[in-house]
Parts: sequence; structure tokens; C-alpha cells
Amino acid sequence: MEFAFEFWFFLVGFVSLLFYLAWFVPKAKFQPPGPFNFPIVGSLFYLSKLPHRSMNELAKKYGPIMYLRLGYIDHIVISNGEMAKEVLKVHDADFGSRPRFIIGKDSSFDWSDISLSPCGDHWRLLRKICSTELLTQARLNNFQCERQDEVAYMVEEITKHNQGRPQLVEMRPIFYELTSNNICRMMFGARRKELKNHLGNNFDDLFNSISDMVEIFNKFNISDLIPILKPFDLQGLERRMKCIRNQLENNLSNILKEYRKGNKLVFDSTIKYFVQVLLSLDEKLDDASIMAILVNMIGGGTDTTAITLEWALSELVHHPEMMERAQDELDKVVGKQRPVLESDFANLPYLQAIIKENFRLHPAGPILIPHVNTKDTHIRNYKILANTHVLVNVWAIGRDPEVWKNPLEFNPDRFYNSDISVGGSNFNLLPFGSGRRQCPGLNLGVLMVQWGLATILHAFDWSPPPNVKPKDMNLIETSGLATPLAEPLVVIAKPRLPPQVYKPSI
Ligand code: HEM
Repeated sequence: MEFAFEFWFFLVGFVSLLFYLAWFVPKAKFQPPGPFNFPIVGSLFYLSKLPHRSMNELAKKYGPIMYLRLGYIDHIVISNGEMAKEVLKVHDADFGSRPRFIIGKDSSFDWSDISLSPCGDHWRLLRKICSTELLTQARLNNFQCERQDEVAYMVEEITKHNQGRPQLVEMRPIFYELTSNNICRMMFGARRKELKNHLGNNFDDLFNSISDMVEIFNKFNISDLIPILKPFDLQGLERRMKCIRNQLENNLSNILKEYRKGNKLVFDSTIKYFVQVLLSLDEKLDDASIMAILVNMIGGGTDTTAITLEWALSELVHHPEMMERAQDELDKVVGKQRPVLESDFANLPYLQAIIKENFRLHPAGPILIPHVNTKDTHIRNYKILANTHVLVNVWAIGRDPEVWKNPLEFNPDRFYNSDISVGGSNFNLLPFGSGRRQCPGLNLGVLMVQWGLATILHAFDWSPPPNVKPKDMNLIETSGLATPLAEPLVVIAKPRLPPQVYKPSI
């Protein structure tokens, strides 16, 4: 009996070893270098809760293009600008698709959305709709008054309780309110709360469902990496995503119904909101695609911008001399008797430099949404087999010591009056990615960061909470799709303008 057990034990071990050697070792000949891959789990052990950091450490040893097998899935990790250019420009067409994550089916309404759809005709149509209908410069200009209203509303929220005195404020909800109300007004013509009030008690807050969706996406789904586990949904992520999809479908179909009846929600205006544009396109879209686009816009445009603003303010509270310089610039250009306007941004080079430096050190997406190649592709001497997932570590690229002097230092002067842009032409600075999958909300994202930061610096002096020195502020990030600060920013706001300057118009 004992002998039989040992025999089977060794036979299974031997066959597994043969399988491992036959399957993985020949592939290794062409692959970029990388750490040892354990059977079944591959390199998963090397990754911490902050994978961009672990991958950066590994890249220091294995180089800017590195092979990792996570579970059974081949990955390459890109960690410098030169290699990012290979993937996002030279071989953009090959690497322009997305992996089919299991939960992606529900979150993308059966691959009807922009961010997870494969690079085919449907995705091309949606990108065209973004660039010619929804996010054009003309349409962004149409919503200038709404943006101005929303920053005034934000100032009011900050000052609400302080009656002219300095006041401790937790900034994350304030920035989240700003970005979510802004995107909500562009899409539906209503602020978040007003939308809920208007649609009644059966309406769940869309934004909460989408935040849950984003949170689920931030987890490695073990069933994606070890496909034999797929039927078990061990982490329960598929079940949760299905519930969220049902909730979103119910709520969004209510909204579509209202607009089809010709009702406008809350604000009456001559402007066409996104939902109206989508319902009146010549190239008719089905409801799943319309809902998926709206979900992408909320998911893409809310957290990213809010977290970017939170980081920028944290850095300035940490570096009061930089805050003072930015405020001096604002006082010279804007003065203290009127609010900041969009037309001021071009005349604020130091503010622009702060924003770029913040994007370099704190990109809201530290690793781009995974790309995948649909056919075997050669990069330099390496053969990247079809269906390899590509992780572009933007966080590491922004800290590459070969490119950036003292890369860990927050130093806006490196961008002062420089023409380096965040628009994807410089592969050492890629907060919005580059190439065909680049963020379609880039201009809106940058505009909202400019509005938010210029306004809070103009309207208030900011300092750390009592008993905390600026240099002692904790600037460590935690995990999350948009990599927020581990401790939400709580700071003291002291008004610096006459109260009527930022009076909201509605
Ligand atoms: C500071 C603000 C923002 C940042 C830092 C940001 C960053 C990014 C990044 C890094 C990607 C992935 C690019 C890639 O995979 O190569 C992305 C994709 C995307 N973003 Fe943004 N984003 C921001 C704002 C917005 C806004 C305002 C919207 C829409 C209103 C938006 C919608 C999208 C969509 C739909 C995609 C998927 C594109 C595709 O797969 O074709 N984002 N964004």
C-alpha cells in the first residue's frame, strides 16, 4: 500500500516536471529576463499590495523590459520611457488590445465599453464618438460655466463651517464632490444629489456603484491567473460584479427613459448633455453601449482627478515655499477681487509646472490598464508571444534616475516654462498613457486639475493640522486603482479673499 502511494506521488511529480519543462522552458529562450517562476503561481510571490513598487524593485535587477508569469499568464513589465515607446508607439497596433478579464464581461456590459473592449470596430466607433462628439474642445468650452460653478460650490463647501476662521478640512470628499458633480452635470445636467432626488427613492447612487466596481477591479482575480479555478469564483468578485451591473442597468435605464421622453433632469439649458448626444447619434448605439460609455466616463473621470488634486495639495502643504510662490503668481495674474478664470491658466507657468511634477511623481494610474498583443511581436531581440499582458509601469518611468535628476524630489522647477507635455509625446511622462489607448479624457482631466488647484490656492492658505510640521506630513500611498494617499489629507484652510469673490451662481 505504502509503495503504491509513493509510486503515484513520484509519477505525478515527474509528469508535472515534464509538463513544466516542455511548456515553459522553451518559451524562456526568447523571453525578456525576469525572476524565477514557481510552478502554478509563477511570480505572484514577488508582488506586494503596491505592485508598481515591487515591479520597480524587480526591474532594477532585470531591466526595463521584464518577463513575469503571474499564475499561468505571461506578462511583460515596461519600466522606462524607451521601452514604453516600443510598446505604445512603434508596436502600438500590436499591443492595442485589452485582456479579457472575467469580471470585465459584466463591468463592460458584455464588452460594449471603451476601456476593456478589444481593439476592433466597436471600440473604434466609441473612440470616434469621444473625439468628435463628447470630449471635443468645443463641447468642453460649452461646459465652462458649469466648471466655474462647481469650483465656486467647492469653495463654499470648504468655508461653510468656518465663518472666516481657519478650519480643519478633510479634502478627499471635497475633491470627489467637485469631480463627480462636474462629470454628472456634463453627462446628465444635474449634480449628483439632485439626480438622485429627481429620480426618486428607487434610484441608487450611480457613483457608489461605480466606486465599488473600481474597487473590485483593483484586486488580482485569482481565476484570471489560474483558469482552472474559474468555476469557483473563490474571491466572490464575479458575484459582486454581477450585482453591480444589475444595479447600474436599472438606474441607467431609468435615466435613458426620462431623456427619451424628452425630459431634462433638473437644469434646463440649451446645452446638449452627453446622454442626449449619445441618444441622438446618426450611428445608432444600443443601450448597453450608451450605459457602458457613461460608466466609463464616471469611472475614468472622478477618482483619478480627485486623487490627483489631493496629492498636489499634500505636496504643497509639505513644501510651503512652493505654495507661497504659486499664490504670488496667482495674485499677480488674477488679483484678489475676482475668481480664477479658465483664461488665466495659460498665464500661470508655475502652477502648470506643479501640475506636471505632481503627475510625474503621483500618476493616478501607476500602471496603465493592461494592454495585450494579439499576435507574436518582436521588441528588440525578444519575442513576445501573442496574448502576453503588458504592464506599463508609469510610476517607475516617472522616477527613472537615468532621465530625472533627483527623481524622488518634488521639484516643479524642472518643468518651469518647459514644453514637456503630459499629452503622450514624451514617453518619460505618461500619466494618461500614449497611443491608441491613451486616455480620451486627457483635456478634461487636466482642465479639472487646473481649476481645482488654482482655485483652492487662490482662495485659501493651507497648513498641516495643529502639532504637525509640514516636513512631517505622511506622503505614502496605499493600494487603489488611483493610488490614493494612505492617510486622507486633513488640513487647515484659512480664507485669503473677500467672501463674495467665489459666490456660487446657482
Ligand atoms: C487626471 C485625470 C485622469 C487620468 C490621470 C487618467 C488616466 C488614464 C490612464 C492612465 C488610462 C489608461 C491608458 C492606457 O491603458 O494606455 C486611461 C484610460 C481611459 N480614461 Fe482616463 N484619466 C483621467 C481622466 C479621465 C476622464 C475625465 C475621462 C472621461 C471623461 C477618462 C476616461 C478614460 C477612458 C474611457 C479610458 C479607456 C481608454 C481606452 O481603453 O481606449 N479619463 N485614463
